[in-house]
Amino acid sequence: MKNRIYISELNRHIGEEAVIAGFVDVRRDQGKLVFFDFRDMTGKVQGVILPNNKEAHATADPIRTEWVLEVRGKVNQRPEKNIQKEKLNGDIELEILEIKVLNEAETVPFDVSSDGRELGEDIRLKYRYLDIRRDRMQKNLRARHAVTKYIRDYFSNNGFIEVETPILTKSTPEGARDYVVPSRIYPGKFYALPQSPQQYKQLLMVGGVEKYFQIARCMRDEDTRGDRQPEFTQLDIEMAFVEEEDIMSMNEKLLIELVEKFYPEKKIQQIPFPRITYKDAMEKYHSDRPDIRNDKNDPNLLAFCWVVDFPFFEKTEEGGWTFTHNPFSASKPEDAEKIMEKKDIGSILAAQYDIVLNGFEIGGGSIRNHRPEALIKVLEILGHEAEKIQDNFGHMLSAFSYGAPPHGGIAWGLDRFMMLLQSEDSIREVIAFPKTGEGRDLMMDSPSEIEAKQLKELEIVIKTREQLLEKLKHNK
Ligand code: AMO
Repeated sequence: MKNRIYISELNRHIGEEAVIAGFVDVRRDQGKLVFFDFRDMTGKVQGVILPNNKEAHATADPIRTEWVLEVRGKVNQRPEKNIQKEKLNGDIELEILEIKVLNEAETVPFDVSSDGRELGEDIRLKYRYLDIRRDRMQKNLRARHAVTKYIRDYFSNNGFIEVETPILTKSTPEGARDYVVPSRIYPGKFYALPQSPQQYKQLLMVGGVEKYFQIARCMRDEDTRGDRQPEFTQLDIEMAFVEEEDIMSMNEKLLIELVEKFYPEKKIQQIPFPRITYKDAMEKYHSDRPDIRNDKNDPNLLAFCWVVDFPFFEKTEEGGWTFTHNPFSASKPEDAEKIMEKKDIGSILAAQYDIVLNGFEIGGGSIRNHRPEALIKVLEILGHEAEKIQDNFGHMLSAFSYGAPPHGGIAWGLDRFMMLLQSEDSIREVIAFPKTGEGRDLMMDSPSEIEAKQLKELEIVIKTREQLLEKLKHNK
């Protein structure tokens, strides 16, 4: 918009005319004076229509909150007694000369000038585009952007490249349930959405990339809760020729930098971050993500710690073995032989580390198994049969057979980290368009049914539960 001035910059134009554009935040009628608070992405300012400006009064008459306006006015210094020192533009007022209505607004379903805590979450999510107008959401989204940008620059400056990996991929054994996407060209076959870029990032190491990162979207079909969404964002990292220490110290440095730069009011409890073994964490805190804060009432205290020396395997209910984190992890070097000989399985430790903040697991990673023969042994311990190993992991084994550098990495749950930095108690507050606790998008109304034509193209027939059970009975 030609000549538009951002509201936060008005105080550089005292005594001049200025044009602003934005929403009506508040309207107050005081007899012959009409006051407005206007809002754009940079802040708010109070405007007033003086009694003599008949034309502006007439235009303003129907204008209510959330209308979208262009306003020409004169930036006046407020008299000393009316100055609000702490507030942006608390020392100025816009004397409204002319109003242009850019768009009217229906009465909004809720007040967007509050922090929204008085509202039920469903209504906030149904009208998320309005909810995002509130200051709290604006702050959260802008802080997230700033942190993400800093992360991107940090890695770029350190020789990493960001590589995008596929969203349509193959089901991977990462512990959670996959979201699947039916293929039209190959009826009856499915892509899976990635639970993380785990295999691709390892394959990038085989591809000689050496230093990879990605702000990556991950999808997991699991029950949603305050710190868990069906789709979430990771800061995903992988490096070649590294040991546990390299990854941990690099991440620790970045975490400290981020807090110091963007959250100077927050205090990190202990630097370097304490390292706690899984065993000690379980004994002392009964949790593998211990909350080690000295003072749990202090919202500005950040108690980071690393949890290390996780057991590689744990017993399943059926008496077999499952991995505790990631089938692609390597064991601690001193336990490598136990893997090759498949002995003392319960005592094998993984070269794995989790980063925990105030009792939340905000990241985890490991040094990987880059030798095909060792990966095969792990998969055998996990009970995979030879044929299945080839089916599911053939590409990894093949890749590792052509010269794979030793490598390792980590992924942060970026939403969780932002939630804690912004002192929010749910990751939904730092995600623009999250799903509800029940995994629904109330604004778009998804998941939803699809057209019969789409089903036909995909050769999918939807059966009722009863029909399905009936069919299964006959098949027996
Ligand atoms: P992991 O499964 O531990 O590791 O995930 C890494 C981090 O992602 C966050 N996280 C989630 N955040 C929100 N909603 C979810 N549903 C959710 N699930 C996980 C957590 C967690 O610490 N590929 C490996 C990483 C690696 O080994 O490099 C992985 O995905 O903060």
